[in-house]
Amino acid sequence: MRSHRPIGVFDSGVGGLSVLREIRRELPDEDLLYVADSGYAPYGDQSTDAIERRAVAITEILLARGAKAIVVACNTATGAAARVLRTRYPVPVIAMEPAVKPAIQRTRSGVVGVLATRQTLASHNFKRLLARLGEGPEILLQACPGLVERVEDGDLEGEGTRALLAAYVEPLLARGADTLVLGCTHYPHLGRLIGELAGPETAVLDSGAAVARQVRRRLAEAGLLALPGRDGGERFFTSGQPTKVRPVMERLWGAPLDLASLTSGAATPFFSDEAAPIARSAGCSG
Ligand code: DGL
Repeated sequence: MRSHRPIGVFDSGVGGLSVLREIRRELPDEDLLYVADSGYAPYGDQSTDAIERRAVAITEILLARGAKAIVVACNTATGAAARVLRTRYPVPVIAMEPAVKPAIQRTRSGVVGVLATRQTLASHNFKRLLARLGEGPEILLQACPGLVERVEDGDLEGEGTRALLAAYVEPLLARGADTLVLGCTHYPHLGRLIGELAGPETAVLDSGAAVARQVRRRLAEAGLLALPGRDGGERFFTSGQPTKVRPVMERLWGAPLDLASLTSGAATPFFSDEAAPIARSAGCSG
């Protein structure tokens, strides 16, 4: 069995593009729909109920557009809503897990630092992940308020962003961390600054590529992979102001993109297996 319906991907904003890029690399034949919920970002300081409501609303929009699977490209929404989405909708729901397990295998100093939103660190999912790991390396948790907003504003390398990041990263290094886990999908967009602050001896891990492999596995198991040899395309939606969001998204994606307002886009018809393929944006082919 094969399906040419699109994969639906969402995040509180532009952060999930770091996951979308990996999905595009892993699954070049698939059509992708991406929702940046920028009108409601950041999720990290909101209540679990509020995040769950957004996750449900966006999932319904993606399903109405024919999505054959949902990727929650947001650690915070994973903690708040992945379980509900899995219970409620009969499609594969693939969600994030901070790369703590690979970090534990990789550390030589025995100290791992995890950077994430407050909500993620406080979530039941994350606590369960830590509990499953049991005794072993020391795991330092660092909430990073303000970073998501920097990325949403496209301020990836400014002095303010560097100072904020330094305040989060340096204490972890000072306590001996030689491996840092980026537990929020916005943070890989700050990879250059994080790399500079952490230095070449420190490993910086995120879970985008692992999630993309998991998407492939889940689609294969469900018989939902597209036929090989297609040229998959992307469509982007935002609940924020497209004129404000577009330049940041295009910078992060590396190409001009087809970005619609979530409300106006809601009228666009269903994608079906018979629908014309979605055009591939020029960037991010690799
Ligand atoms: N990209 C989201 C995550 O992975 C950011 C959450 C937020 O909006 O605070 O956690």
